[in-house]
Amino acid sequence: MARLKTAVLISGRGSNMLALAEAARDPAYPAEIALVLSNRPAAAGLDSARALGIEALAIAHKEYPDRAAFDRAVSAALKARGIELVALAGFMRILTPGFIADWRGRMLNIHPSLLPKYPGLDTHARAIAAGDREAGCTVHVVTEELDDGPIVAQARVPLEPSDTAQTLAARVLVAEHGLYPQALALHAQALLTSGNRGQEPSPTPSPRA
Ligand code: GRF
Repeated sequence: MARLKTAVLISGRGSNMLALAEAARDPAYPAEIALVLSNRPAAAGLDSARALGIEALAIAHKEYPDRAAFDRAVSAALKARGIELVALAGFMRILTPGFIADWRGRMLNIHPSLLPKYPGLDTHARAIAAGDREAGCTVHVVTEELDDGPIVAQARVPLEPSDTAQTLAARVLVAEHGLYPQALALHAQALLTSGNRGQEPSPTPSPRA
């Protein structure tokens, strides 16, 4: 069965990366995690990936003169390995238009809010301050706008009156670990079904979980 060669880009602990790697252990899963890449060499997720036998690569953004040079180095590393699909999972970098164009239709991100609510940082505190009764997370296709782009899937969790940003983040993170593997599979399967393994952008399905 065909599987898309997938890279997971991280900056830190990598718990979503681990959820994806766990799902991809099933040979029937339509993506294989071929690479974990971090812009921070000290990211804990790199060690976790290595422990699973997944190639783990650090490309330190601080060693590049500007964003575009760093993004070119990352794109080149992905292409050199035949990567066909990119999953951003806590990758704390603003991406340049050139990088986004390279991976158009083939790059997903997970964001800890019910987009279009609360793009950017501090999503949990903002949801609490707004008096929301529910929160959640979103997997979307990456476009030029930060935390925007066609939604692949969302998961909702209740927001309790006693919640702090920390307790809410923990509850949303559990939902993220369930959502991202499902959403990545949906998107990978759509690319495989359309016969698009990387060269041309393809329409993106937008079911909501
Ligand atoms: C997650 O909450 C993700 O939604 C956000 O950053 C966090 C990354 O956590 N973009 P982890 O590194 O996957 O554990």
